[in-house]
Amino acid sequence: MNQTFEQTGAPVSLIWKEDRLIMLDQRLLPESIVMLDLFTSEEVWEGIHSMKVRGAPAIGMAAAYGVVLGAKAYGAAGAEGWLKHVQSVCAYLATSRPTAVNLFWALDRMKKRAQELIQTGTVEDWDAGLEQEAIAIQAEDELVCKSIGEHALPLFEDGMGVLTHCNAGGLATAKYGTALAPIYLAQENRIRLKVFADETRPVLQGARLTAFELQQAGIDVTLICDNMAGMVMSKGWVQAVIVGTDRVAANGDVANKIGTYSVAVLAKAHGIPFYVASPLSTIDLNTPTGADIPIEERAAEEVTEGFGKRTAPQGVKVFNPAFDVTPNEYVTAIITEKGIIRPPYSDNLAALFKANL
Ligand code: MRU
Repeated sequence: MNQTFEQTGAPVSLIWKEDRLIMLDQRLLPESIVMLDLFTSEEVWEGIHSMKVRGAPAIGMAAAYGVVLGAKAYGAAGAEGWLKHVQSVCAYLATSRPTAVNLFWALDRMKKRAQELIQTGTVEDWDAGLEQEAIAIQAEDELVCKSIGEHALPLFEDGMGVLTHCNAGGLATAKYGTALAPIYLAQENRIRLKVFADETRPVLQGARLTAFELQQAGIDVTLICDNMAGMVMSKGWVQAVIVGTDRVAANGDVANKIGTYSVAVLAKAHGIPFYVASPLSTIDLNTPTGADIPIEERAAEEVTEGFGKRTAPQGVKVFNPAFDVTPNEYVTAIITEKGIIRPPYSDNLAALFKANL
């Protein structure tokens, strides 16, 4: 087994190698495992935009490495010029996708580090400093995900059915995932969970990625179409829902993959707790409510001819938002690396950040 694979057998999304970012092409999973060598910030932008890498934390990590590659392309000396160049690389990478706040969080962190770095040293030192920062972002993400899993684990008991939507697993992060972290830790602790993975139309992250990585890890996973979640809940097979998120607003409204809102409403109707696993880097106190979260709309072809087969009439009108917002009243708890946050979210999220600044 080489560095491309975790011990679970699931491939790693991003590997940094001195002069390049090696990116797993997640669009080709589970059929093919293709690792791409990226040498420029433009290639990283394209990788994020086309969803070769996806999932909020992984998008942030990829962007940080994109800054490193972009900075290395600067051909002159001088702190001011280098800093301006890094800032423009960051501004460019920020246009790759709009919803996951981890992208902007990681780019802000890289810009701040660049500002600090130019106080001493040479261009080589500053480039090396940015590289260290990007590596640190990835290393920290693994610890953050593990900690989310540890905080969430007591919410799960042996034999429970757990439903998840989209992919918030190892493929979306450095390791473990956010929503899938407690599921991996449960397995390590011999707590048997039965996972239902929504297939997640139209890009099928649940079918192609969640079902794949859980199956590789030997976890009991059953794939269902999105429109089967209510039926599975009505049968009493689901005792908890856990999902990841792309951005949590200051009032606890949660943006996540399209279809999450429907799952939350169904969970409430069936008296099932609805948990959101979120690193602090995904909580955006500068976004007051869910209505202020920019929601990405993607190409109509994802709906009309996803995966190469036309399934709708030519010329039909299509609405294809990639995310929706679940209002905070449907969210039972938000599980972070610092602990479990419960309503009232406006107060408790603000207090969480105050305590962890
Ligand atoms: O469009 P995607 O695949 O990037 O959307 C991913 C999700 O919605 C995930 O649930 C979210 O980013 C959390 S990943 C830990």
